Amino acid sequence: MKEIKLKKEDVHKGPLILVNPQYQAAWNMTERLSTVGPGVQLEREAATLLGELMQQIGGWSSIAPVSGWRSLEEQQNIWDASLRENGPEYTRTYVALPGHSEHQTGLAIDLGLRQESIDFICPDFPDTGVCGMFKQKAADYGFILRYPAGKEDITGIGCEPWHFRYVGIPHAKIMAENGQTLEEYTEYIRQFDSPLHPCCIRMEGRAICVSYIPADTAETVAKVNEAVPYRISGNNVDGFVLTQWT
Ligand code: DAL
Ligand code: ZN
Repeated sequence: MKEIKLKKEDVHKGPLILVNPQYQAAWNMTERLSTVGPGVQLEREAATLLGELMQQIGGWSSIAPVSGWRSLEEQQNIWDASLRENGPEYTRTYVALPGHSEHQTGLAIDLGLRQESIDFICPDFPDTGVCGMFKQKAADYGFILRYPAGKEDITGIGCEPWHFRYVGIPHAKIMAENGQTLEEYTEYIRQFDSPLHPCCIRMEGRAICVSYIPADTAETVAKVNEAVPYRISGNNVDGFVLTQWT
């Protein structure tokens, strides 16, 4: 077993950070940005997996990247413009409070069906055709539909069929199978707080196991099996998620 030392600020970094009305985006990952379309950037791992998924389904001919990474200032400008143009109810439903948008993490992308006019805040993204194929395959590439219908009370945001969030493999797959939002998954994973009893899923003939490590007040020491690949992400709340490919 290898001991990995995690700093307090590491809780706010990584693909599993929960960013919502309660928890702010505090990860400055601007040096990790990669371009996915005209004026649209994503965190580079998310960009790579999005590219692979799009290639698999021939997606870019029918789907346009509408909005990816946003600075705090950009989110504030979108919020202010929407308040002026659409009013407070619409804005609170479809625009995250500046400081609390997943777009600030570079892990979220809005996608729209290519057509003459694409709405910037609420683009069309139907369940049919290539968009439907994207939705079906998203979890295999680490993406979740972040704001599904019926979960508005949990996410604090209206149903957004166009907003996809990169959380990585195998987390997207587990969430999709369990019908969980990121809020629910963050809570669910807390029970697997012993590396001896992880949450495991089989993908491509391999068991991938997930466990939770609560953050200590100063430094957190994570024990990992270095004989197999592993990954640690903060949850942006109170700890870390360890993923091991066994
Ligand atoms: N539309 C999502 C909620 C955002 O503004 O981050
Ligand atoms: Zn979005």
